[in-house]
Amino acid sequence: MTRKADIIFRTIRKILPRNDYVEVSGSIIPPAKRRWCGAEFKNDNFYLKSAEGEANRLIDRFQCTQDSRVLDVGCGQGRLPIGILRVLGEMDYMGVDVDRRSIDWCKHYIERDHPSFKFKHLNLYNERYNKGGVKIKDGFRFEVESKTVDIVYLFSVFSHTTEEDMRVYLKEFLRILADKGNIFFTTFVEEDVPNITINPENYRMKCVGPLHIVRYKKDYLFSILEECGYSIQSFAHGTETDGQSAVYLSKSND
Ligand SMILES: C[S@@+](CC[C@H](N)C(=O)[O-])C[C@H]1O[C@@H](n2cnc3c(N)ncnc32)[C@H](O)[C@@H]1O
Repeated sequence: MTRKADIIFRTIRKILPRNDYVEVSGSIIPPAKRRWCGAEFKNDNFYLKSAEGEANRLIDRFQCTQDSRVLDVGCGQGRLPIGILRVLGEMDYMGVDVDRRSIDWCKHYIERDHPSFKFKHLNLYNERYNKGGVKIKDGFRFEVESKTVDIVYLFSVFSHTTEEDMRVYLKEFLRILADKGNIFFTTFVEEDVPNITINPENYRMKCVGPLHIVRYKKDYLFSILEECGYSIQSFAHGTETDGQSAVYLSKSND
């Protein structure tokens, strides 16, 4: 978009009545058209329940409390913080995403009223979500001090990220995680498939666009995680959106 067109677009948006949020049971959530993940998330009540479910996941699995420090990578339109606010309340949370519109939404509808929730746009290249971004380099660092994060959370992010980019993040998470810190992420994982396949044919659904499905062979994914310095705390096959699997990690003691 040219600069002039961008200014016109922004001005029109300011004049038009706001239709970029929905209020459900006292929470502001993004409108259906803005939500990522499977079709079930278009339903307002499902979306809100799933937000609470994600907060409860962190409490049940990682003993997350209001004193925990959470980094939500690929936070989208803030599904996790919406849930945290309902279930736990204020906390030290940071959400980052390569999609600027999502971050703008979160700043406007979450950070403005809850400044302990911070959001930051990362202008990193992702063929699906941010084609204009800069390719991530080895040695990439989040603006976060070493060993200050208790939980790193990535729901449906490594499922749309190249292996190379995932490895850079995994290396950096090791620096920022506290000694007893944990990671939760989801991606597509199967046995008896090639080590990594991008947009596999005849799999769970028809792929639309680049990096729609990034699928790993289980042993291969686990070997990457161990190589990067993590122990696999638990694994649940196919339990998440569109049949993604759930992976829970801690820092390896070796
Ligand atoms: C399917 S959405 C999931 C959003 C959110 N985690 C949720 O569960 O509602 C994937 C998100 O990951 C973001 N993303 C993709 N690659 C990323 C990267 N390398 N770093 C940060 N965010 C990324 C996308 O912009 C998008 O918001």
